[in-house]
Amino acid sequence: MQLSQPRPDPAQQRMSREEVIRESQRWLDLLSSPTLNEYQKRRVVQDTVDNFDDYFNRGFVDYRKSVTESDGYAAVEWAGRGDVIEDILGRRYLDCLGGFGIYSCGIRHPKIISAVRAQLERMPMSSQELLDPLRGALAQLLGEITPGDLQKCFFINNGTDAVEGAMKLARLYTGRSGFISCLGGFHGKSYGSLSLMGKAEYRVPFEPLLQDVYFVPFGDAGAVENELKKAQQVGFDVAAVMAEPVQGEAGAVVPPDDYWPRLREICSHYEVLLIADEVQTGLGRTGALWGVDHWDVAPDILCVGKAIGGGVMPLSAFISTPEIWKVLEKNPSIHSTTFGGNPLACAAGIAAINVVLEEDLPAKAAETGAYLLAEFEKLRQLFPDVWLEVRGKGLLIGLEFVDSEFGYAVAAGLFKRGVLVSGTLINAKTLRIEPALDFSRERCDEVLAKLKDTLTDLT
Ligand SMILES: Cc1ncc(COP(=O)(O)O)c(C=O)c1O
Repeated sequence: MQLSQPRPDPAQQRMSREEVIRESQRWLDLLSSPTLNEYQKRRVVQDTVDNFDDYFNRGFVDYRKSVTESDGYAAVEWAGRGDVIEDILGRRYLDCLGGFGIYSCGIRHPKIISAVRAQLERMPMSSQELLDPLRGALAQLLGEITPGDLQKCFFINNGTDAVEGAMKLARLYTGRSGFISCLGGFHGKSYGSLSLMGKAEYRVPFEPLLQDVYFVPFGDAGAVENELKKAQQVGFDVAAVMAEPVQGEAGAVVPPDDYWPRLREICSHYEVLLIADEVQTGLGRTGALWGVDHWDVAPDILCVGKAIGGGVMPLSAFISTPEIWKVLEKNPSIHSTTFGGNPLACAAGIAAINVVLEEDLPAKAAETGAYLLAEFEKLRQLFPDVWLEVRGKGLLIGLEFVDSEFGYAVAAGLFKRGVLVSGTLINAKTLRIEPALDFSRERCDEVLAKLKDTLTDLT
C-alpha cells in the first residue's frame, strides 16, 4: 500500500502557514473520526514514527519495544479500557505496566471520565482569581484520608513537582537545608528531586546538584540515625529524611517491617521532618491506601502523584500538618503554579478517590498481589538460573532477572505475546508488574502462562 509521499527534510524546508493549518486540520479530522480505513491507520503509524524521529526524540523510536519488537509495524496506541490497550491496527495488549502506576483505577474508568467531562463542559481551567470549588473539595478529601495530622495540601501536576514542593516546605519550616535520601531512591528528575536520586547515571550529567544531601541504604534505619548523629556533631543542618514506603523504580524493594516505625522515632528524636514519597505507592498500589499504613506511621509531609489523577488527568500534591503549613500561609504566593489543581484535574482526583474507596481497590490489590507473588515464585523456581527474585507488596511487584539483557528479552517476549511490562528506571534487570488494582484472577493466570511460555522459549 502506497503511504504518504516521502517527506521533505524539516531541517531543509519548513511548512508554510497554509500547510500547517492543513496538517493540523487533518489530525483534528482523524481524531474525531469514528472509524478509520486501512490506509489512514497505516499512515498514522508511519507519520507517528516519522514525527518522533524528526521532531520529538529519535532515541525513543530506537529503544521502545513497541517499535523494535512489532513485526514491521510500530504499535501506535489508539484506545484503551480497563486493563487492555489497543493499537491503531487493532492489536490488543494486556496492561501490566499501568502507565508506570497511573492506571490504578484502570484506563478510562467511567466514573472518572464522566466527572472530567462534566467539568469540561462547565469550566476547564481556573480563572486564577475566583475561588474554585473542586480544589477545596479535593483538598478536604485528601486531608480526610491521609494518615495522622496530615491535612493541608498544594496541588501540582507531576510527582517531581510534589517532591520539589515538599523539599521547599521542609526547608522553609525547619530553616535548615540538608536532606537524607536513599540509595536506589527515585523522586523525579527536576533539580531538587534529582538531587535526592540514588543513581549516578541520571545525576552526573547535571551536577552540581544540591550539595547537602546524604545517602544511606534503603531499609536501614540505623544508617539514617548515624547520619543524623554525625550531622549533629559537626553542625550540618538537616531539614528532612525522604524515602519511598516501598521503593518503586529500584524494582519494588520492600523495607524491613521496623524500618518506617524507626524512621518516625528517629526523625522525631532529632527534630527533622519525615517525608514519605507516595507518588508511586499512594492510593492503594501496595495493598493499603497509603504505603506507610502498612506500618501505621504518619509522616510530616506526604507526596502523592500518578494514580491520584485517575489515569485521566495529570495531578499530584504534597500534604502536611496545619502546624507545618503555617509557614506557607504567611505568604501563600511563595510557592505557586499556573496549572496545579486545575478544575479538570481536581474533578479527576475527586472521582479517583471515590473509586479507590468505593471499589475497595487497596484490598483487591492486597489479595491479587499475594496471589501473583506466590505464583511468580512457583514459576521462578522452574527457571532459577535466569530469574533471581520475586518481590514487592500489593500490586507493586518486581521480577529480577540475571541481567538487564535477559530482563529486556523477557519484556520483549511478553510484548510479542500481547502483555505490556517494562523495566524499572533504577534497576533494568527488574521488570515491573503494576496493573490496574482490580486485575482479575483470569488476567493473572493469562500473564503467568505467557511468562512461562516466554521463559521456556528463552532458556
Ligand atoms: C516515588 C516517585 N517519586 C517521584 C516520581 C516522579 O514522578 P513524575 O515522573 O510524575 O515527575 C516517581 C516517578 O516514577 C516516583 O516513582
